[in-house]
Amino acid sequence: MTTRNTLVPSVLWWFNQSFLLEYVKMPSTPLIEIKHISKNFGGVQALRDVSFRVERGEMHALVGENGAGKSTLMKILSGVQTDYEGALIINGTPVKFNGTRDAEAAGISIIHQELNLVENLTVAANIFLGREKTNGGWFLDDRAMERESAELLGQLDCDINPRQRVSELRVGDQQLIEIAKALSLDAELIIMDEPTSALTESEVERLFRVIDQLLARGKTIIYISHKMEEIFRRSERITIMRDGTHVTTKRCAELSPKEVTHLMVGREIESTALGKNRQPGETLLKVENLSLPWPGHVRQWRLKDVNLELKRGEVVGVAGLMGAGRTELLECLFGATDVAPQGRIVLEGNDVSFKHPAEAMAAGIGLVTEDRKRLGLFSHMNIRENITLCTLSSLTASGLISSRQEREATGASIRKLGVKAAGPEAPILSLSGGNQQKCVIARWLRTEPRLLLLDDPTRGVDVGAKAEIYQIIDELCREGMGLLMTSSELPELMIVCDRILVLCEGRLTGEFTRDQFSEAAIMEAATGSVTTAAM
Ligand SMILES: Nc1ncnc2c1ncn2[C@@H]1O[C@H](COP(=O)(O)OP(=O)(O)OP(=O)(O)O)[C@@H](O)[C@H]1O
Ligand SMILES: [Mg+2]
Repeated sequence: MTTRNTLVPSVLWWFNQSFLLEYVKMPSTPLIEIKHISKNFGGVQALRDVSFRVERGEMHALVGENGAGKSTLMKILSGVQTDYEGALIINGTPVKFNGTRDAEAAGISIIHQELNLVENLTVAANIFLGREKTNGGWFLDDRAMERESAELLGQLDCDINPRQRVSELRVGDQQLIEIAKALSLDAELIIMDEPTSALTESEVERLFRVIDQLLARGKTIIYISHKMEEIFRRSERITIMRDGTHVTTKRCAELSPKEVTHLMVGREIESTALGKNRQPGETLLKVENLSLPWPGHVRQWRLKDVNLELKRGEVVGVAGLMGAGRTELLECLFGATDVAPQGRIVLEGNDVSFKHPAEAMAAGIGLVTEDRKRLGLFSHMNIRENITLCTLSSLTASGLISSRQEREATGASIRKLGVKAAGPEAPILSLSGGNQQKCVIARWLRTEPRLLLLDDPTRGVDVGAKAEIYQIIDELCREGMGLLMTSSELPELMIVCDRILVLCEGRLTGEFTRDQFSEAAIMEAATGSVTTAAM
């Protein structure tokens, strides 16, 4: 009896142990295994022996400086880039994609950094692009596609009309169309490459609600972003890349944002205020009762009665929520609005009213725009052409453009701003987002403006390059330039600006000097919960 009594539990114990051991020996197969992947673009080593795993059902953040290779790796994973070294293993099976269709069939969808929709097609047509439903014959079954699109968009909590043209939608809604498309493909892995860089605050919240839903349904997400707050919000693990190599993959709980930054950049980033001992000079710009009507409306305003003053050697920030009129304010000053603004603009003591940006440029104003793709870059040109475009006349020798001078000027700009590129002749689109932005800034700096308008100049720029751009702004200001800048990130304005003006629905609702800077107070003014009667 006694023997039997002890034997049964010990047999059970042995069985349990060996079962557990077996289980431990065979860890579950990861959804994605990236093994020794390298990629070279004609001399630029974009990826160097990168290996890591993405587990099923996790949200996996992928971070790294501009040009670290994040988008390139994701393009390989989604079949966009088919020429590379190394192996991709999905669900335990090695795969070699010949295009995005193969990747989609394997359950991988990507939402690109620069959205990939056909603007003049409808929402439904975009969702089913290349997989159109037919009536069983020659004809497209628009009804079925629209019905299914509406259902998919409904799952995402949004009521976009499937018949609407994509060109009529806001970027945030366009992004949801890409997600709906991923859902319609029944993707198991959804890659989001900087999905929030063009979203409003409320659109970001909506995106995160969608992400929660996707994770609850067991989907796997790879999430690329430069914003720490977003990275740490929901991700389980994080992979850090630097200069095309894999630095580490860790659980988010084991890392702090500061450590992540350090691992990304390989050095400490100072985030202290920059403006100490600046000596603003005389008034450079004065704006009085500036108002901008909506086109076709007499009493509806995009900007209303805005007053401001900017001195030489001063950086003034314009804060506000998306749609508050920040971009419009800069466009008014640059002569780039579709209707003429009302009110007074006084530049260096003279009343001005520019009808075209060329007139503003001639008067010494530069504008670095937030919309790189549409307004800032000339995508068919190379780096040199993009940088020297506005200043070719200064690079001529006896009436002809001197290519030697042009090369030297480009080289100097590339060095000054630390643009990472294969060389000045490389196509601008071969650069990473942040490096493209530095080229746009370089172009305007070459015009030696006295007033530089910066519209969200660090959008999509990594922490290291951001710090470099802040330094550049500080130096320009100390050289006597006046800078007026907007930003979607308030802490950024608090680092670089001497004063911050706040816009809410086209009106000034607050003005703060450096000693008054407080995120809470500025946000209150931006949401209209306080109104400064004097303004
Ligand atoms: N088509 C291409 N031709 C040449 N070089 C390229 C091409 N695509 C990418 N590169 C280079 O490969 C490197 C990695 O670029 P990638 O776009 O993957 O960076 P990233 O990490 O996504 O950066 P960002 O944060 O700015 O989006 C960069 O040096 C870039 O210039
Ligand atoms: Mg990228």
